[in-house]
Amino acid sequence: VLELNRAELHRSVADPVLGSVSFLNEVMSRYPDAISFAPGAPNLVHLGDFDISRLTERYVAHLEADRGLSDAQARRLLYEYGPSRGLINDLVARALRADHGIDVPDDAVVITVGAQEAMLLTLRALFSSPADLLGVVTPSFPGITGAARLLDIGIVPIREDADGLDIGALLERCRSVRSGGQRIRALYVAPDFANPSGTLLSLDRRRALLDVAEHEDLLLLEDNVYGFTALPGNRLPTLKALDRGDRVVYLGSFAKICLPGARVGFAVADQRVRDADGTSRILADELAALKTMTTVNTSPLCQAVIGGMLLEHGGSLSLLGEVKASVYQRNLSSLLDALDRRLAGPGAAPGSLVTWNRPGGGFFVRLKLTVPADEKLLDISASEFGVLWTPMAPFHLDGSGREEIRLSCSYLDPEQIEEGVVRLAAFIRSLAG
Ligand SMILES: Cc1ncc(COP(=O)(O)O)c(C=O)c1O
Repeated sequence: VLELNRAELHRSVADPVLGSVSFLNEVMSRYPDAISFAPGAPNLVHLGDFDISRLTERYVAHLEADRGLSDAQARRLLYEYGPSRGLINDLVARALRADHGIDVPDDAVVITVGAQEAMLLTLRALFSSPADLLGVVTPSFPGITGAARLLDIGIVPIREDADGLDIGALLERCRSVRSGGQRIRALYVAPDFANPSGTLLSLDRRRALLDVAEHEDLLLLEDNVYGFTALPGNRLPTLKALDRGDRVVYLGSFAKICLPGARVGFAVADQRVRDADGTSRILADELAALKTMTTVNTSPLCQAVIGGMLLEHGGSLSLLGEVKASVYQRNLSSLLDALDRRLAGPGAAPGSLVTWNRPGGGFFVRLKLTVPADEKLLDISASEFGVLWTPMAPFHLDGSGREEIRLSCSYLDPEQIEEGVVRLAAFIRSLAG
């Protein structure tokens, strides 16, 4: 039997994040009755009247009315290979224009297999030299660091504070990297309720970040997967909407706002790319070309379902997100309220000095224990107290965060959240004792 040597495989297979994800899955399967604050999965409560046929028919009717196709032509579009750039680009571009003030031509949008593929394609296109490094806010979403490792792209962690990315730290890293003969080519940032930290970048910091991008010649990869969970009236403009210098590539996903099973996301890349002969195309053209070498095209059937969903909500991402946002806001309030009552109130664990942040949206709360939150502790929490959470250390790129855990409230209902916090409080009390 041929045995391959793991050490000879690409180093991305040994990404420590992969190990922590499989450990978490394994613990969840060993303790099926535990309440799990671990998965950052969307709540499917909204999908009560989800009907694939109805949504597909809605999209087929749109193709007939909008593009003048016959019924047979419209259906063929869904059954065949499709354009690598996508089918629903016009709907997405229209929604971004109306809802977010992101005014780009339809062909600047590339429909991808989740935001994850949008990240992979964008990184592949932008990074061509070992001297080009990716700045990443730490703690960070493992999908972006994993994609960078897959492509052998060097990562520069950038610190954040309670209000998100630390602009001073970014400037300092840009300069120190440059003095070492390299450069930060692009920075990945999730300004709206980042995963895992829940931070929200203020309007001033958004503007300051765009200024830094201009002065330091950076591109910004803006991940806005959780922006829709903000309370109406509390939404801040995206970096892309504020961008006057074509610095931002915008990464979107329908996984949390619709459903993850469709695997539909997108990149908005309207930057001009100049050729040696003086002609130019847009970056989205290059991403679409690369996509023919990864997934060929995003499933037209899945795009039709998502397109149908958008159309059923007046073509608006905001309307699509509003109903869902109320569930996530309710869950987040339930979680923060239960933590206040059970961990900080009169019945709080004696001597427990745990602290947590208070995000205004998103799926996650970050809680700091007084002891290292490692896999051994997670096992005790699951087996003795019936509650699961995610250790934060693997999200940190600088070795910090060892005592932190991430609590996700998206997938649970308020009763489960309350019971989960009761169990968590008992677990935390046991640490103090
Ligand atoms: C910040 C962030 N970006 C992107 C994604 C992935 O999006 P998709 O499922 O569309 O690939 C996630 C999923 O957890 C996420 O948390």
